[in-house]
Order: sequence, then structure tokens, then C-alpha cells
Amino acid sequence: MFGGDSAEREVSLKSGTTVLNALLRQGVDAIPFDPATRPLTDLLSEKIDRVLIMLHGRGGEDGSMQGALQLLNIPYTGSRVLGSALAMDKIHTKQVWQSLGLPTAKYEIADKRHFEAGKSSAIMDKLGNEVMVKPAREGSSIGMARVTSAKQLDIAVQNAFKYDNQVLLEQYIDGPEFTVSVIQGQALPSIRMSTPHTFYDYAAKYQDDTTEYFCPSGLTDQQEQALALLSTRAFDGISGSGWGRIDVMQNSDGQFYLLEANTVPGMTEKSLVPKAAKVAGLSFDELVMAILATSLD
Ligand code: DAL
Ligand code: MG
Repeated sequence: MFGGDSAEREVSLKSGTTVLNALLRQGVDAIPFDPATRPLTDLLSEKIDRVLIMLHGRGGEDGSMQGALQLLNIPYTGSRVLGSALAMDKIHTKQVWQSLGLPTAKYEIADKRHFEAGKSSAIMDKLGNEVMVKPAREGSSIGMARVTSAKQLDIAVQNAFKYDNQVLLEQYIDGPEFTVSVIQGQALPSIRMSTPHTFYDYAAKYQDDTTEYFCPSGLTDQQEQALALLSTRAFDGISGSGWGRIDVMQNSDGQFYLLEANTVPGMTEKSLVPKAAKVAGLSFDELVMAILATSLD
């Protein structure tokens, strides 16, 4: 199942097509299904055993599709309703992690109903010189900005309100950025990303070839183990299951800060989970079959 009508539709079309081809290569009798173009009840007339969800963003990764499939009694891959809904929301994800004592950067919330531009200076004072502005429920860095002044923060918040009524304002952590893929409770080797962009934004993710990926990431064995443990705890903490990816920043002191969880991570040619799987000895096709198997949990 891929496509959908979220802002990440284009990414999902790429992920889904790549995954569908892998399923067909493996002899799986698979059909594409785009919920943006067909009613979900069509699944009942097709002879569907299970759904491999490759939808990103709202309507596909946020628990609503998971709930619908559950009511239709159709098994599906990845996280259930609660894990999907929590992971989609960066604010609630942070609050759960904080309550579990897991490290995550300082933050403030901007709510469209109450936000006044005059609050921006006070927010900058609390969060430091650099702030990340993120719509609470988006993916692929859509609507995000890195800002260094109250004026920029105002503009970035207003832009982020186009995507969500709730916006996360987060202390910027210098990086580097790491990501850890989790499959069936196991962490795959971490990847470190290095981008010349001001942050790992949509273009750095999908549109140009300037991002460098390091896997193995260059951490010591001890740091790698600590990051793996942190990531599996973070994924379990938000009730993630099956497979997913945890994004993390490391500051200059070596301390890790959890950024967010993705319950349907990208599976495009440029995506991260396939890179980590390859280093772990899992081919793309084997990875796809492992993801499909999560529907049997
Ligand atoms: N939200 C994108 C698809 C990712 O996490 O890879
Ligand atoms: Mg995400």
C-alpha cells in the first residue's frame, strides 16, 4: 500500500514502487494499492492476505490506516495504532521519552490558536541561539527550519502552521546526526549523515547527492552499543513494533539526544534503512521480506 494523500506522497510512491518490485522478485503475489485513488473497502473484494504499509505521513503512518485495517481484519506490517499515532507526533513522542528519562533536547510548543509573534524572543532565550522549528506531525523535514533569531523564528513558525496547528520548537543540537534502524527488536548498525545544507532537509534527503552517509558510522563499539540500546528503548517506549527508525543527534560532548521515531521509514533508493541493512548483511529483498513478516506478529 503506497501513495496516499499526505505531503510525503512523492516519497511514498518511490518507496512503494521499490518495495513492490522486490516483492515481485521474491515471488510474492503482490498488487499495488493507493488509498488516495481507491476506497479501502476494495481490499475486501481483492483477495488480500495482508498489507505491507509503505505510506508515509498522515493518513498512513499515524495510526488511522492501521486502525482501519484492524477493523477490516486485515493483517498489516509495522507498528499498531498507538505506536503509529505517537510516532507521528513529535511533541507527544518527546513527552513520552522525557517521562521515561530518555535524553531529548529542550523544547517549547507553539499552538496556532495562542501563538503571538511577541513570544519569539522569550523562546529564543529559553532554547538558545539556534532553534529547530518543526510541524508536530510531518515527515521528511517538510515545513521545518533552523533559525537563529526571533524574527526568523516568527516566520518559520507561521510557515510551519501551514502544515500543522501544533509546532515543536526545539533547541538545536550541533550534530552529527545519526539514525538507527530497528527491526524485530534488533538495532541495525547506525548511520551518520553529513550534509552541507543547514540541516538534513528534504533536498538533502531526496533531491541532490551532496549528503554523505557513513555506515559503520565511526562510533566506538561502546558508543555504538549505547546508541543501539537507546534507540530500541526509544522505539519500545512509544509502543513501536515490527520495524522503524530512530533519528538521533550527538552534541560535541558525545551525548545523544533523541529527535524522533519513524514507523514507516523511507525505502527509496536513497533511504537509510536499506543502507544499514546492507551493512548488516541483509540485501534489499531480504529486508523487504523481513518487513513483510512483521505483519504476522
Ligand atoms: N519520513 C521519511 C519517509 C523517513 O523517515 O524516512
Ligand atoms: Mg519522521
